[in-house]
Amino acid sequence: MPRKLNIGILGCGFMAKIHANAYKKIGYVFSASLVEPELRMVYSRNESAVKRTAERFNFQKWTTNWKDIINDDIDIFDNTGSNDTHYEPTLLALKAGKHVIVEKPLAVNLQEAREMYDASQEAQKNGIKSMVAFNYRFIPALRLVKRIINEGRLGKIYQFRSNFLQDKMADPTVPFSWRLDKEKAGSFALGDLNSHAIDILRFLLQAEVDSVMGYQKTFNTKRPDQNGKQLSVDVDETSLLWLEMENGVLATLESSKVSTGYKAMWRIEIHGSEGGIYFDLTRANELQFYSKADPLYLQGMKVINVTEPEAHELFEDWLPRGHGIGWEYYHLYMLEHFLRSIVMGTDIGPQGATFYDGLKCQQVIEAAIMSFEKGTWIKIKDILE
Ligand SMILES: NC(=O)c1ccc[n+]([C@@H]2O[C@H](COP(=O)([O-])OP(=O)(O)OC[C@H]3O[C@@H](n4cnc5c(N)ncnc54)[C@H](O)[C@@H]3O)[C@@H](O)[C@H]2O)c1
Repeated sequence: MPRKLNIGILGCGFMAKIHANAYKKIGYVFSASLVEPELRMVYSRNESAVKRTAERFNFQKWTTNWKDIINDDIDIFDNTGSNDTHYEPTLLALKAGKHVIVEKPLAVNLQEAREMYDASQEAQKNGIKSMVAFNYRFIPALRLVKRIINEGRLGKIYQFRSNFLQDKMADPTVPFSWRLDKEKAGSFALGDLNSHAIDILRFLLQAEVDSVMGYQKTFNTKRPDQNGKQLSVDVDETSLLWLEMENGVLATLESSKVSTGYKAMWRIEIHGSEGGIYFDLTRANELQFYSKADPLYLQGMKVINVTEPEAHELFEDWLPRGHGIGWEYYHLYMLEHFLRSIVMGTDIGPQGATFYDGLKCQQVIEAAIMSFEKGTWIKIKDILE
């Protein structure tokens, strides 16, 4: 019999919708699922929004006080709120003995992330699991990249390049939101997009960052609020990072919110002594792989379809080979991993992102901001972990 787990979700926005959808599907997409997630309660400050969300996804209850979720009979506290709502509710939920998944980036700053990590360690002593929602770890193509690297097919890795590019904010009339307020978001292109790149870099290379050089720019320093009043933007619209990894790999990570023409394009390229990789989020059911092991006359980037069951468990009993999955599935697969870890008592890492991973990512974000402010390279070991 699958175990029933009551879910409470903080937030009613984009991620709350994606997570609620995933919980509803887990039971039937994974035919051998050991869990039956129950959408118990949802929170938003806005009563009409939370009522709409509760009805749409069939939550049992809704509330405009997030503490109600923690005080209710929930097993899992799913924090999909704005970045500034990650810290306090997450600490309280862990203290109350709830398993917690929190959206990325873990926190608004390193100090908060450190406290959240410490709290997760304390809770773990009582069997409480915690995870950061770095969903891209669950893309089949990137799992295959990890395997190709582990099998030594890239040889000695030299360079890792990531360009995560969106264009919504290229329009100066797009209104102000919490994402453009440093106090609420921490940073923008850096924390929202490059946080994914930092996490995937650490995940794929299984190596830590040694030092960081960062540069950022904000082109639209004022944005109108809903009433047309101009507000100051104090976060980055573009973020450029050079990273020297402890294993000698050089990584260049670019993220931008003003890359006209790209809606949500994420390109990752990895170059090693024996081969190269090219991944593009807009064509995520395939991967390009170049191998020097091929005879010279056949060498070139070759397209691999990543929908073979051998490449990813998801293709074992849900979709037949060759039938691609879409963006929402990375969250579905991530949340299934989280719930399975709870029921089986297995580790969140190394496949899922732990609060330690969230903390390490936040450390790089902090170093990048420091580097931008000082105009120098920052050694990770020199800043508080
Ligand atoms: N993993 C991913 O792929 C991914 C994608 C997008 C966003 N995110 C992360 O998910 C989180 C939410 O992003 P989103 O896109 O859903 O944002 P959103 O703006 O769509 O929703 C944010 C929610 O937080 C609530 N909120 C905002 N300020 C609040 C406050 N002060 N107190 C209480 N509630 C408040 C809003 O009412 C809304 O319900 C962020 O941390 C973001 O970085 C992750």
